[in-house]
Parts: sequence; C-alpha cells; structure tokens
Amino acid sequence: MLGNAISKDSILLALFAIVSTGLCVATYEMTKGKIELNRIAALEKALYEVVPKTSHSNNMLAETTTIAAGSLGNKKDFTAYLARNSEGPVAAVFPVTAPEGYGGPINLLIGVYADGTIAGVRVIPPHKETPGLGDKIELKKSEWILGFTGTSLNNPKESGWGVKKDGGDFDSFTGATITPRAVVKAVHNTLQYFEAEKSNVFNDTAMINDNTFDTSNRTGEVNPND
Ligand SMILES: Cc1cc2nc3c(=O)[nH]c(=O)nc-3n(C[C@H](O)[C@H](O)[C@H](O)COP(=O)(O)O)c2cc1C
Repeated sequence: MLGNAISKDSILLALFAIVSTGLCVATYEMTKGKIELNRIAALEKALYEVVPKTSHSNNMLAETTTIAAGSLGNKKDFTAYLARNSEGPVAAVFPVTAPEGYGGPINLLIGVYADGTIAGVRVIPPHKETPGLGDKIELKKSEWILGFTGTSLNNPKESGWGVKKDGGDFDSFTGATITPRAVVKAVHNTLQYFEAEKSNVFNDTAMINDNTFDTSNRTGEVNPND
C-alpha cells in the first residue's frame, strides 16, 4: 500500500515538473522575440545617447565591426558600432567591460569620435555597485559620467587619467573610489586601443584623416532624464 502511494506521488510530482517546465519553455518561446526587440531598442537608445543621430547618416546598428577577444580586456569577440556620414567615419562605439568595479564588472558603452575624443560614455545596467555610493556612475543618479565627454588621450594628459585621489583629474565619490577608478581606467584603455587600431576599426584607412572631420554637428550629450 505504502509503495503504491509513494509511486503515485512520484508520478504526480514528475507530471507537475513536466507541465511546469513545459509552461516555462512555452512562455520563453512566446516572449523571446519581444525580449530581443527590447534589447535592440535599449541598445539603440544608448548608442544615440553617446553618438547623437544628427552627427552621422548611417544606421549604427547595421554597420558594425568585430573586435577580437583579448582586446580591451573582453574575453569574447564583441561588436563595435560605427557611425559614418558621406565624408567618412564619424565615431565608433565600444561595449566595454570595466572588470574592477567594487561589486563586480561594470558594462559600459564608450563612444569615440574619429579624431580620438570621447563622444560619450554610459553605464549599461545591470551592475552591482552600491546604491548611494558607486551607483553614481549612472546618469540617472549623477552627472559624473558626462565628465568624459570631450576628453582624449591628450586632454587630460597621461598623468591626469586617474581619479583625483590617485593624482588624476577625475572626481571620485566620497568614500567610494574603487568604482570611478575602474570606469576611468576602462575609458582610458579604450582611447589607447582606438588610437592604435582606428584604421582597423573603421576598416578604411583612406577615410581616416583627423583634419577632414566636421565637428560642427556634435550636438553633445542626450540626457535620458530630459
Ligand atoms: C557596504 C559597502 C559598500 C561599498 N560600496 C562601494 C561601491 O559601490 N563603490 C566603491 O567604490 N566603494 C564602495 N565601498 C567602499 C570601498 O570598500 C572602499 O573603502 C572605497 O572604495 C575606498 O574609497 P576611498 O579611498 O575614497 O575611501 C563600500 C563599502 C562598504 C562597507
């Protein structure tokens, strides 16, 4: 009797597990298209925050280049997004991970104009920096991240590429130096990578000429809080 009851319970449990799993799979299948669309929409929004739409004429989501694993500390190959207009390359946007955040890696989108100045930097959530301390790297918490716009390898000079506590030019947050230090380092590394590799990034050396870029249409940052 007891054996029968146990095997009946086991069958019911197994059936329950199968039905639950089936429901999860079905829900995932039904929503994955929407999740992907949301992901693309979020990416597009962030891309156009760092490189304004008015600065170029192509579809940055469609024009990409693959950056090999190992570059910029990324473990896998990754996609960088390119902005062009009729005169040539305008900017590249790199999804970069700052590995040394306080709570873990911090994902960033770093836009670099073709002449090597930072177009904009944004944190791509989620991250594990502490609310009220490290999370001030998010634009919705503070404007600190906007301080990178217009910087380059020469501005500030090499010794300035650190947080003030380390003798550099960039502010940190009271009692929370680790997070901004990680972000400053990632942005600096990206500028160095871009300087060394920009002709490969744009895959068009003939069009890379710092003097030919029209910077008059740099409309600046788009604040998502507006
Ligand atoms: C609970 C807790 C959370 C913390 N979160 C952060 C953080 O998100 N980012 C950060 O840089 N430091 C954080 N800190 C502080 C770091 O441990 C470290 O003391 C600090 O970054 C060093 O900055 P300072 O040189 O300005 O003192 C946190 C500390 C504690 C106790």
